[in-house]
Amino acid sequence: MKASELKKKYLKFFKKKQHAIIESASLIPEHDPTVLFTTAGMHPLVPFLAGQPHPLGKRLADVQKCIRTGDIDEVGDPSHLTFFEMLGNWSLGDYFKKQAIEWSYEFLTKELKFDPKKISVTCFAGDKDAEKDDESAQTWKSLGIPEERIYFLPKKDNWWGPAGETGPCGPDTEMFIDTGKRQCSPECKPGCSCGKYFEIWNDVFMEYNKKKDGTYEKLKQKNVDTGMGVERTAAMLQGKDNVYETKLFQPIFKEIKQLAKLKNLTEQQNKSARIIADHMRAATFILGDERKITPSNVDQGYILRRFIRRAIRHGRLLNIKGDLCRPLAKIIIHIHSNDYPELKNNRKFIMDELLKEEKKFSKTLEKGLKEFKKIAEQGDISGKDAFLLYQSYGFPIEMIIELANEKNINVDEKGFKKEYEHHQEISKKGAEKRFKGGLSESSKATAKLHTATHLLGEALRKVLNDPDIKQKGSNITSERLRYDFNFDRALTDKEIKAVEDEVNKQIQAGLEIKKQEMKLDKALESGAQSEFGAKYPEKVWVYSIKNYSKEICMGPHVNNTKELGHFKIKKEKSSAAGIRRIKAVLE
Ligand code: ALA
Repeated sequence: MKASELKKKYLKFFKKKQHAIIESASLIPEHDPTVLFTTAGMHPLVPFLAGQPHPLGKRLADVQKCIRTGDIDEVGDPSHLTFFEMLGNWSLGDYFKKQAIEWSYEFLTKELKFDPKKISVTCFAGDKDAEKDDESAQTWKSLGIPEERIYFLPKKDNWWGPAGETGPCGPDTEMFIDTGKRQCSPECKPGCSCGKYFEIWNDVFMEYNKKKDGTYEKLKQKNVDTGMGVERTAAMLQGKDNVYETKLFQPIFKEIKQLAKLKNLTEQQNKSARIIADHMRAATFILGDERKITPSNVDQGYILRRFIRRAIRHGRLLNIKGDLCRPLAKIIIHIHSNDYPELKNNRKFIMDELLKEEKKFSKTLEKGLKEFKKIAEQGDISGKDAFLLYQSYGFPIEMIIELANEKNINVDEKGFKKEYEHHQEISKKGAEKRFKGGLSESSKATAKLHTATHLLGEALRKVLNDPDIKQKGSNITSERLRYDFNFDRALTDKEIKAVEDEVNKQIQAGLEIKKQEMKLDKALESGAQSEFGAKYPEKVWVYSIKNYSKEICMGPHVNNTKELGHFKIKKEKSSAAGIRRIKAVLE
């Protein structure tokens, strides 16, 4: 079965079970400052797992594009990928363990026709924070999974979340397919990384909220959050024991071999090819995302740069000297553009950025490798030398470490960090702040900033006298809002002041905020503002701030503008051609 068929079957199955099908969210989390990428299907749903009602109800399902940079070192083994697609179904305070597991089993055995004898499961063993999950184990047993294929494992294996530092989480039950390989040792069991047991699906029972102090409290509601890996499940359905041999990857491999002019690959070359394939998928999807990330030295742009540069470096190991990125991106776009039209729509942007980055890095790569060789001949790499390779040749530190590992020498990472901080573009404090505090902790602050964003949009349209100004992206942390909009020149100081004054005037006016549920077309007809290029579900919420503003939004918002305090613009700059970016705070 092809991956596309698997996805269709999944959504059809859960639609029949009264789930609303929602769109894949952006790869760049909108409102969670604690992580750079969307790492799971639940990520965009955190506020709803925490208790905010969802406009489409209590049962949702989707296919979500995800990136997990934490798995980057595992890329090349049978099952780990940085970019992957996750199928998910959610109960927001509706059904719980028994129903979720029964549907998982039904889908696996009836729809996908996996042999029940090949299915093993794991359940949470229990500890001081939560009890042993006998209910899940009993349900599996009642479905016919014998006790010897039900394993109880501790928190490190069978607890999922939160996605950031705080937020919804809970015990989970994971489903594995036995690939038929021999056990690597008598202790080998689901969870072992040897490849005998392939994890394909995870049902998480999110009834806890992890707090900042590391303790857990019960959430308002008991949720189910599930995640099924598309590539992994496709591998099992296609009788392959690793994701790279699936139909999703084969055209990419064929192209890599052609570019390398190689018919067969050695084990080492195969690993490089897997890294290239994985990283180019991730890079293509990041560039193809509506948020228009470009390679840089900070945040998502840095990760994107790492993916591209590491792929190019491994391309060199396969003797690929010419254009590597674009031919592969072309194939990746072709494979995925039916499901992700943004790849097609942003094709030129993807290709242009890949070309630019590849050109830039190719210029310094050879020289940098020579320099590295010289340095490495002296033994371990000092922080200063590592920084030189980073600064002068554009080697990401992770690549320097990888190169050093290949030569069995060490890199003084601490020394590198020191050098880096010395020269750094962003202050260390800023970088650390980003990882502090999760979404749930900061919900009041973000609700205020959400409301401020709506006021800002109106104020811009009014002060700049341009009704066509639209939101082109937004990102809210507990400290500040960031608002992108279409406008083709910088704002003057006078205009910035006028926008601030206008927002503060509306704050002081104490306007009430009301929420209405509407069909999307009705909402748009009513003149509600919408974000340019955003994908909305068919039923949405429209937030009105008295008669001042009307906007489609998932919230959350405060009840009265009075709660906002004082609005201040901290920065106004260009973000892309024809797009301005404002950063603002509430004091
Ligand atoms: N959020 C869960 C996972 O990613 C389902 O495994």
